Amino acid sequence: MSGLPKDRLRVGFVGSGFIAEFHLKALLNVRNVDVTGVYSRNPDNRARIVARVEELGLGTCTSFESLEAMLQSGEVDAIWILSPNYTRLDIMKVIHGEVTAGRSEVFAVACEKPLGRTIGEAREMVRLAEEAKLNHGYLENQVFATPVIRGKEIVWRRAASATGRPYLARAAEEHSGPHEPWFWQGDKQGGGVLSDMMCHSVEVARHLLTAPDAPRDSLKVKSVSGTVANLKWTRPGYADQLRERFGADVDYRNRPSEDFARGTVTLEDEDGNEVMIEATTSWAYVGAGLRIQLELLGPEYAMEFNSLATGLKIFMSRAVSGAEGEDLVEKQNAEQGLMPVLEDEPGVYGYTDENRHMVECFRKGETPLETFHDGLAVVEILMGLYRSAETGASVAFPAPDLEDYVPVVARTGA
Ligand SMILES: NC(=O)c1ccc[n+]([C@@H]2O[C@H](COP(=O)([O-])OP(=O)(O)OC[C@H]3O[C@@H](n4cnc5c(N)ncnc54)[C@H](OP(=O)(O)O)[C@@H]3O)[C@@H](O)[C@H]2O)c1
Repeated sequence: MSGLPKDRLRVGFVGSGFIAEFHLKALLNVRNVDVTGVYSRNPDNRARIVARVEELGLGTCTSFESLEAMLQSGEVDAIWILSPNYTRLDIMKVIHGEVTAGRSEVFAVACEKPLGRTIGEAREMVRLAEEAKLNHGYLENQVFATPVIRGKEIVWRRAASATGRPYLARAAEEHSGPHEPWFWQGDKQGGGVLSDMMCHSVEVARHLLTAPDAPRDSLKVKSVSGTVANLKWTRPGYADQLRERFGADVDYRNRPSEDFARGTVTLEDEDGNEVMIEATTSWAYVGAGLRIQLELLGPEYAMEFNSLATGLKIFMSRAVSGAEGEDLVEKQNAEQGLMPVLEDEPGVYGYTDENRHMVECFRKGETPLETFHDGLAVVEILMGLYRSAETGASVAFPAPDLEDYVPVVARTGA
């Protein structure tokens, strides 16, 4: 792309839900960027984003009635794909079509996790982006989480350099269940908690185990082993709760996905050393709120982070009553007692540095730390874990036969 670096990047959102709001909060702390467009199907949702952009001083945002109109407007340089998983590929096809036909000058695209519901979908996302000569970024926020950036830097600079590389990364992400019906529908989302949340855990763990500035292929996946289970939400009372909350399309009595998943990934470094990822994810965790737990262990050191072990805690007695909210921590489960509070959620979860990184890379025409190729590599691991959970055996990598694999719970009519 000629004319780079640009002084400011003009971003257009596709999607106006939960994660769009997080990105706006994050962009408040990013320079050289304006949010100039939004497209989603419902005009009221778009109007909410337009108003929020104005309130936060993030530029002048136009609500577009179609994706094509936003792409052709000349008002956006880069697209942030923030819509549900089952819409990804169609959106990318429209972007590809408009750009390759010369009707749009958009030159970059960033996409939320997971990149696809299957390896085939993720690979097609890569192909379409590259054929349209778009710079591309994979939005894996945990790689940019402030504790991950700081912890990885210290471990590798001080401890690994003196005593040897880290050999084990543990990553867990758990909460009490997602907020919209499509997440609970295996075919729409691509699976259950394994595809929804283990995408974070395997990628942040791989990132922690990778030497600073080393390429992705400095660690090779050798095998994966996964387990899935339904611990809570298939219990009849809880399945009925889901139906009442989300309607008949979420039928966890008859068509559940999984609410618990664990996986181990065995990798090998360039010197033939074995390193391991242990990941566990759950929609059946009822603590104060979302809990991200990370560990990085090596021969003479250990790093750990727990997102609920916050410095700030607020106690509220039983006399304090009020409406339910998510104003203390994401996926909050209580409003009384001793509650942890994250004073900067977009920063700690990584959205701020993720947005800063993508904006700067796109503005300057540089390749981001996380691209669609990384998103594809994550989906390959996830499909290996699902296959392993289905067969009860480890899956050796590379595993070319996973190309068309669809997790059991995502198969139509399963
Ligand atoms: N990084 C993270 O930690 C994280 C956290 C949450 C979600 N995510 C990811 O972000 C994505 C969105 O999740 P969410 O929680 O924001 O979901 P959500 O709250 O359900 O929001 C989805 C949004 O997409 C819009 N949408 C639906 N179909 C569309 C279509 N065909 N074209 C354009 N827009 C469409 C919806 O608005 P309309 O009804 O107006 O179309 C809605 O604003 C998912 O891929 C999810 O995995 C990532």
